[in-house]
Amino acid sequence: MYNEKVIDHAKNPRNQGELDNADAVGEFSNPDCGDSTIIYLKVRDNVIIDIKFDTFGCAAAVASSSILTEMVKGKSLEEALKITEEMVAQELGGLPEHKMHCSLIGIDALKDAIKNYRS
Ligand code: FES
Repeated sequence: MYNEKVIDHAKNPRNQGELDNADAVGEFSNPDCGDSTIIYLKVRDNVIIDIKFDTFGCAAAVASSSILTEMVKGKSLEEALKITEEMVAQELGGLPEHKMHCSLIGIDALKDAIKNYRS
């Protein structure tokens, strides 16, 4: 069902775990399946200089959150907010249609972290 890149990120997640002294933390849970992601951010001069995540969910959610952290590191907060589930799926080389929504919990947790950072 999953391609090799998705399996690699699911089995060997990048940037997984808690970030010490994070500037902001965000969280999102999918009400339908109960899976959730926490995002930890370090921000300097409006740029994400470090990011880590913890996902409690399916393989697609872990792989999506993993690659999302690679996609946004070094980006401005505005650029990070523009990332869509299609962009995450494309970066992973594709996700099965019925697993597309799984990429959203990482994106929504990132949005929550940025919102918390700005407040
Ligand atoms: Fe819940 Fe994938 S089934 S995030």
